[in-house]
Amino acid sequence: EPPELMAKFDARIDADGRIEPQDWMPDAYRKTLVRQISQHAHSEIVGMLPEGNWISRAPSLKRKAILIAKVQDEGGHGQYLYSAAETLGVSRADLLDALHSGKAKYSSIFNYPTLNWADVGTIGWLVDGAAIMNQVPLCRCSYGPYARAMIRVCKEESFHQRQGYEALLVMMRGTEEQKAMVQDSVNRWWWKCLAMFGPPDADSPHSAQGMRWGIKRVSNDDLRQKFIDATVPQAKVLGITLPDPDLKWNEERGHYDYGQIDWDEFWTTVNGNGPCNKERLSTRVKAHNDGQWVRDAALAHARKQQQRAMK
Ligand code: ACO
Repeated sequence: EPPELMAKFDARIDADGRIEPQDWMPDAYRKTLVRQISQHAHSEIVGMLPEGNWISRAPSLKRKAILIAKVQDEGGHGQYLYSAAETLGVSRADLLDALHSGKAKYSSIFNYPTLNWADVGTIGWLVDGAAIMNQVPLCRCSYGPYARAMIRVCKEESFHQRQGYEALLVMMRGTEEQKAMVQDSVNRWWWKCLAMFGPPDADSPHSAQGMRWGIKRVSNDDLRQKFIDATVPQAKVLGITLPDPDLKWNEERGHYDYGQIDWDEFWTTVNGNGPCNKERLSTRVKAHNDGQWVRDAALAHARKQQQRAMK
């Protein structure tokens, strides 16, 4: 790597400046961004699937309209993120190939099943709540296109979180069966949401370099702690119990202490063997193949436009 370009890049990072697509950047920085942004994009579009299952079974027209809007938003987030990745010189088709062949990672959380209607609310409250906690610092990421995409994504995630929490509040004012459904759902999702933030800092291979480059602004463990501290009071208002007997306020630390996350189960899921990995991937591949005619039609249209413009 040319030392003078490297020095200029480092100085920009140290001054908390932004790197733009046309700027010189070290190869490893580019690769890290492609890895993280594409994993993030894949998470958004795979994330449409667990909730998509409930669109046809939503309990009212209002809930159905909200859910459709939310699932569409996730598709939109995938689009901005694939576009941000493309500014780094990779093609969307190659990124999608890596997803469809099982080579690329996406968030562990989307490999668990949505078993009851409360799961739609819990995903909004906890999964999107965790996503916001992780994504707000990414609005200050050193790579301009990623940081700018995150601003709108975070605004929409905030609506997703609120709609989920509100749906659960309504159920908690309902029948005993509805309350039990919410508690069951939270019991199943709580620990998986804590694992979303990634491995503990000591076991996170990319953290130190990601922080040095200003891609990551807050560490995995610090974000996890912030999420727990913010969520416990919300659980109290809701009237549910978080399924962790070790969860208690630590006056000295000024944070909640919490129990052990099952990292073996997390890695099993990340490595393709969670409860729904195969189903999610095959649904994605089918959707992609079924959409071939749309891509063909769009290409044919673009070609015709181009020919007309040349005449
Ligand atoms: N699910 C799947 N894989 C994960 C997860 C997770 N929850 N957490 C970490 N990993 C993977 C990393 O991708 C990395 O894999 P790789 O080396 O094969 O690329 C490995 O575990 C080691 O982790 P870290 O060293 O901690 O990796 P990193 O510094 O990239 O941090 C994190 C992981 C926090 C997820 C980061 O990449 C990030 O902030 N990504 C953007 C946000 C995002 O992708 N959110 C998706 C879910 S939110 C939503 O879509 C609703």
